[in-house]
Amino acid sequence: MRHLLSTSSLSHADSVGVLDVAEEMAAVGQREVKKLPALRGRTVVNLFFEDSTRTRTSFEAAGKRLSADVINFAVKGSSVSKGESLKDTAQTLEAMSADAVVIRHPSSGAPHRLASSGWIDAAVLNAGDGTHEHPTQALLDAFTLRRHAAQLAGRSSSGTDLTGMRVAIVGDVLHSRVARSNLWLLKTLGAEVTLVAPPTLLPVGAHAWPCTISYDLDETLRGGVDAVMMLRLQAERMNQAFFPSTREYSRSWGFDEARLAALQSAAGDTVILHPGPMNRGLEISAAAADSDRSLILDQVRNGVSVRMAALYLLLSGEHHRGTADVQTTQKGTST
Ligand code: NCD
Repeated sequence: MRHLLSTSSLSHADSVGVLDVAEEMAAVGQREVKKLPALRGRTVVNLFFEDSTRTRTSFEAAGKRLSADVINFAVKGSSVSKGESLKDTAQTLEAMSADAVVIRHPSSGAPHRLASSGWIDAAVLNAGDGTHEHPTQALLDAFTLRRHAAQLAGRSSSGTDLTGMRVAIVGDVLHSRVARSNLWLLKTLGAEVTLVAPPTLLPVGAHAWPCTISYDLDETLRGGVDAVMMLRLQAERMNQAFFPSTREYSRSWGFDEARLAALQSAAGDTVILHPGPMNRGLEISAAAADSDRSLILDQVRNGVSVRMAALYLLLSGEHHRGTADVQTTQKGTST
């Protein structure tokens, strides 16, 4: 792997490989000294053209735990036109000898442009581009689900995939890069995916995707799912009305108290995920977000381990040597 731009281009072996290295990284996070010297002397630049809380801070923590120098480049609000600003910024980064560039951009395809332009030599990690992809979010969601399944079964998660797991992705699929990245990765890992949304919030062409489509959340929940991923209603990407009112949206598509109660009284261990930021009371109720079925804080925690794995694999070469290095360092006492 030279760049991490999408999950649609990740093979099964690559995906499981990233999750396995992330497990090693999570073990480092349990130690008193949470730092590895693996990327000492390397520079990671966070280039965020769009707002972010979790993704930016977790890439920053990931880089620092691997001893890289992390530079946060705040470019939001730049008045230069998109194409030019990206090139100008890229050349500045090149002058700073960045080894990895983590980019979030409102335009779908911006990270691909950066990776294929020849403007920079660095590894490019897509931290969310328009409505296209958000690969590290999907990887951290898969990591969270894989750990949960392993815990239920009382076995180790290493080397496993998500075969047979039934996952519902619910809400604003139309504007969601998280939904797309998750769909591709979940399929690659063997899960069965149902997209649940009002017809107006499903992209044209979604019927050709490798998933089931449902317009009825209650019916999908009654049918039995192992995990429900709630999506944020992306008001900032909406320039027209996609549903009658927010109240009606919550009633039909939100994970409200009634649905939580139904879930808790039914047999099964269905868990609830949300990538954040949440609109509490809209697509998810506070009670559901804070319930014992929620894995939302695990997702945030796991984000650091998964991003450490991604940076490590891209900057240190092949998987096998990489994994061995982590293990060696863990046994040693260095930094
Ligand atoms: C997501 C994003 O930015 O795509 N958030 C995130 O990275 N945690 C989802 C969203 O904004 O709704």
